[in-house]
Amino acid sequence: MTTNAPPAPAAYPPNLQAPGTDTGPWEPLLDAAKLPPGSMRRITRGELDVLLAHTPAGVVAVADRCPHMSAPLSIGSLDGCVVACPLHEGRFDLCTGDTVRMPTTGGLDADGAYHPTWSPAGREPKVDPPGLKAEARRLTRVGRLRYFPVRIAGGTIEVQLPRTPTGG
Ligand code: FES
Repeated sequence: MTTNAPPAPAAYPPNLQAPGTDTGPWEPLLDAAKLPPGSMRRITRGELDVLLAHTPAGVVAVADRCPHMSAPLSIGSLDGCVVACPLHEGRFDLCTGDTVRMPTTGGLDADGAYHPTWSPAGREPKVDPPGLKAEARRLTRVGRLRYFPVRIAGGTIEVQLPRTPTGG
């Protein structure tokens, strides 16, 4: 059975709301009909790339930058609530803000704990080669997703964007 009911915004952990969004302007970003369940879209406003995703929990909006090395999540894949990054295969739960799988490069998680370079199941962990690149990978921290508040108004997805330093 199909329904024409508009999507609802998803709840998200309040401590993960993007800084500056609580007083920022509401921006109409997309006709809700253009974001069917299971889909993602990148919408750009100025220097800000926003990822809109229609998850089973509702519509979420986060920066379209992987919390690892800023790759565009919008060209990854969405499976339920989990978005897979196209660059190092990190997986992030858009409904909870949790990291589901660390990037294949390893590195630090949001709490600062180290994770080794990924290896296939049953194999010894790969040893990082020496050098600055490996050191950079080891010290790269996977941050936390940051959410923009979402509302659906008159069939349009509106997102509260961070207020700019100039007050816009
Ligand atoms: S940039 Fe996304 S997992 Fe590395």
